[in-house]
Amino acid sequence: MKRVQSGIAIIGLLTFFSMFANALGSTRPLKQEGSQTKSDETIMTATISIDATKTKKISDHLFGIFFEDLNYAADGGLYAELIQNRSFEYSPNDHKGWNPLTAWEYTTDGFGYGTISVETSSPLNSNDPHYIVLNIEDEGQKGVGLSNSGFDGIVIHAGEKYDCSSFIKLISEKPIPFEIKLQNSKGEIFGEAEFTVDSKDWKKYPATVTATQSCDSCHFVILGKTKGKFAIDEVSLFPQKTFKNRVNGLRADLAQTIADLKPKFMRFPGGCLVHGDGLRNMYRWKNTIGPVEQRVGQRDIWNYHQSAGLGYFEYFQFCEDIGAKPLPVVPAGVSCQNSGGTWVIGSTGQRGLPMNEMQPYIQEILDLIEYANGPASSEWGKKRAEAGHPESFNLEFIGIGNEDKQTPDFRERFKMIYEIVKAKHPGITIVGTVGPDPTGEDFDLGWKFANEYKVQMVDEHYYKEPKWFLENLHRYDTYDRKASHIYVGEYAAHDVDRKNTLRSALAEAAYMTSLERNGDVVGMASYAPLLAKSGHTQWSPDLIYFNNTKVMPSVNYFVQKLFGENSGDKYLASQVTVSGDSKKGADLLPVSILKDTKSGDLIIKVVNVLPGSVNATIKIKGIDLKNSVGSRTVLTGLPDDMGLTPLRSEIKIGKEFQCELAANSITVIRLKNNSR
Ligand code: AHR
Repeated sequence: MKRVQSGIAIIGLLTFFSMFANALGSTRPLKQEGSQTKSDETIMTATISIDATKTKKISDHLFGIFFEDLNYAADGGLYAELIQNRSFEYSPNDHKGWNPLTAWEYTTDGFGYGTISVETSSPLNSNDPHYIVLNIEDEGQKGVGLSNSGFDGIVIHAGEKYDCSSFIKLISEKPIPFEIKLQNSKGEIFGEAEFTVDSKDWKKYPATVTATQSCDSCHFVILGKTKGKFAIDEVSLFPQKTFKNRVNGLRADLAQTIADLKPKFMRFPGGCLVHGDGLRNMYRWKNTIGPVEQRVGQRDIWNYHQSAGLGYFEYFQFCEDIGAKPLPVVPAGVSCQNSGGTWVIGSTGQRGLPMNEMQPYIQEILDLIEYANGPASSEWGKKRAEAGHPESFNLEFIGIGNEDKQTPDFRERFKMIYEIVKAKHPGITIVGTVGPDPTGEDFDLGWKFANEYKVQMVDEHYYKEPKWFLENLHRYDTYDRKASHIYVGEYAAHDVDRKNTLRSALAEAAYMTSLERNGDVVGMASYAPLLAKSGHTQWSPDLIYFNNTKVMPSVNYFVQKLFGENSGDKYLASQVTVSGDSKKGADLLPVSILKDTKSGDLIIKVVNVLPGSVNATIKIKGIDLKNSVGSRTVLTGLPDDMGLTPLRSEIKIGKEFQCELAANSITVIRLKNNSR
């Protein structure tokens, strides 16, 4: 590595500042073709002086996650159900061309025959109106039934067990033997089970199948083996191996990737999905609890179907399983302002619930709080206990509204909800909303309203180019600490072509250091969106991509993970001097120094968006380091790079030590306190 020891003198601050400006504006790799500046060349020296005697308390739950069922994040994604359209409720309202038999095929492989119909006259329950009637006139050699292709195929793993269940009702007189099979496209069978249907009433028939081989694209087959007529609904196939082995649980690898972020909170279930595409599409939490076959599936605002299998109980449970505080968001009594598509003639836009529905609606929100926190003897606490969780879920936050247009309809309804929830649950922090952008009419009106009603916290959103993040590192420095605190509920740096580049990840990292610095007024922040399934990605960039077999975290994910793993509750004063200039130093090399009181560890984060490495001297005063050991984790590459992961190594530390900060990098130095 070639070092330019006194590079400062040679290059000079002016050149340096213009490089930074180029870095801000650049959409190309900072390393130019033919340029002598290699990304590993030391071009600058810096001093980071830390004063551990000057600290301020910051939020101990600053970085979390935001889950929304977008990009097939839930059904076909995090929710481990393997059957698509298990309750035959898909419809053209969900998605053009869909119907109750989407993902299903009528199967008569062994030359059997019969008839199939979709019916509604005698359903399993009124929340699940459609079901299939099969009349087997001749069972042929193999039986007659249905085959499901899953969500782009069904993945099974050799030796693992899968729980299958179906609700079936005999319409003809005699019992019918059934067979279920996991088979590939060639018809090879990788697992099977049998049972007999014997009831004239709807009855659940469970079975367990052990996979004899692994297969990435199986389908599931259920066959009646003799002549007869029956109705069938709610056909489910679940791996027993889910995250923490939960029943009706989550896909283990994907959930683990999320858990590895060490999120301090989780906002759910959206996003736009919360306030919905029109009033009757709002996300109503009560529709999503209880036995899965009784839940109310509905159109997802992102143009597919939500089964509600991943519902409020599962969200709360997941939060608990990963140590994240739950942050449910409920509609503010108005639908999305873009309902029906703002560009479509006849679109409905924002609509408010009729006033006579508001009191029951507010009660629904109070019931949610009781469901989360109430004793198991209370009406809604009992339902939580019946689902297997008698203890409270310790709800501390609730969001009301998402990016709503600040209209009189919105304000009136928000106020009604806010006043009652606040009065009944003064201990719960209510998060209000200030529109979809970091500036503008809704932002200003939202803030005015929040100030008027002293809303404890408001949710700011921004999807901006990397440059914006680097230019706004001081956004919160001047926010009034006595006014509403901030939840940055959605943010992401959108680079050219909306790619997950290192450039975007470092812009987010630099910005996150500023959120830590302002952690006394910024209480929470979450990148958005979290998940995207390959082939079903409706919004990009996202944090974690996946298909049925693989999880592919983005480079932005590793930034979030570095911050999640290296959180603290005290912010330490520091001064960054670059080339003798202490005024611009902190802007050129955004840093954040935290202490984690529990472990006693000191954490230094430095983001270098410059095209060359910086030789930094780190000086620490006011803390005893004799029992501390250092590690350094670095994420670096070229600005356009995408598939990067951080590297960890040991580093010699002391009251004063050297650390080279690679070009285009984030470096996290952890001084682990071994005396505890
Ligand atoms: O994160 C994707 C969408 O962006 C959210 O649903 C919405 O709140 C925002 O506009």
